[in-house]
Amino acid sequence: MTKRILIQLDSDSQPSSFDSVVAIDSGVDHLLRHGRVQLSEVVPLVHGAMFTRGGDDLRNTAIFVGGSDVEVAEKMMTACRNAFFGPVRVSIMLDANGCNTTAAAAVVAAGRHVPIAGAKAVVLGGTGPVGRRVAQLLAADGASVVLASRSHDRASQACQEINEKTGEASILPFAVDNQAALESSLTDAGIVIGCGAAGVELVDQDTIQNLGQLKVAIDLNAVPPAGLGGIGVTDKAKPLGHAVAYGAIGVGGLKMKTHKAAVQSLFESNDRVLDAEEIYAIAKAIG
Ligand SMILES: NC(=O)c1ccc[n+]([C@@H]2O[C@H](COP(=O)([O-])OP(=O)(O)OC[C@H]3O[C@@H](n4cnc5c(N)ncnc54)[C@H](OP(=O)(O)O)[C@@H]3O)[C@@H](O)[C@H]2O)c1
Repeated sequence: MTKRILIQLDSDSQPSSFDSVVAIDSGVDHLLRHGRVQLSEVVPLVHGAMFTRGGDDLRNTAIFVGGSDVEVAEKMMTACRNAFFGPVRVSIMLDANGCNTTAAAAVVAAGRHVPIAGAKAVVLGGTGPVGRRVAQLLAADGASVVLASRSHDRASQACQEINEKTGEASILPFAVDNQAALESSLTDAGIVIGCGAAGVELVDQDTIQNLGQLKVAIDLNAVPPAGLGGIGVTDKAKPLGHAVAYGAIGVGGLKMKTHKAAVQSLFESNDRVLDAEEIYAIAKAIG
């Protein structure tokens, strides 16, 4: 039987050991780990994947784009896709810094407790790679999304970029540079997802507990202090005020299952392109 080969493209000097372990645990036979990958080197690496195996065997080679710099990874993903022509292509997945699997798992966890369609969802720390994807996925499923940042310009820029990508205009920017603005952004929120930088408290426990409409609060920051006060890192559907709460490890089980299932699905055909929405569909199917 043809061996399954995953080509790991990573802009960091050492390709992510996390992504490598997950690849092997997902049943990959051979993992080709490339670190410090420059954009100019992507096309020859992709051609090597495209031109070595023909016909049905092409599906046994796939590409994983990772690394801690999500913007660079997005450019590498585009370069990979531009290198394909017609049916001569291999499946490809982007999960740089865990951005897609983490966002997908968080939104699926929220959807266990409140219908996403029609919910008011606030994404705190929404300008980072995880927050942008969380906002995109919530909006795609019909939530009314507020993307919050300390800066109105950064929030507006993020909303514009997401809305351009998705062709929707349902994500609204909100500047939360003081407590009154923060509380105003959270008014009537049914879902709050904290996507702020590691080790940064975005909102305190009292504020969260006083939100009468809140059904689910999710904090993706695993480094103390909590991003959403009162949420423990391992909390999983734990009551908090009027809501249930998840911490980063609380959504981590679904994130890991999603990551493995996504890698496995790369080998089902030679034309998979797994980015935020496709990975979200995989997470939803897991539940
Ligand atoms: N569980 C997992 O497997 C997993 C995987 C990936 C990421 N994560 C976690 O998910 C969270 C989001 O990841 P990310 O890579 O998107 O984060 P990030 O880019 O590091 O930060 C997200 C946003 O946080 C805001 N921020 C930064 N410093 C702040 C401060 N001092 N006070 C208030 N806000 C601040 C910034 O927004 P503004 O400047 O616009 O306000 C920034 O865009 C992180 O906590 C990360 O550790 C978890």
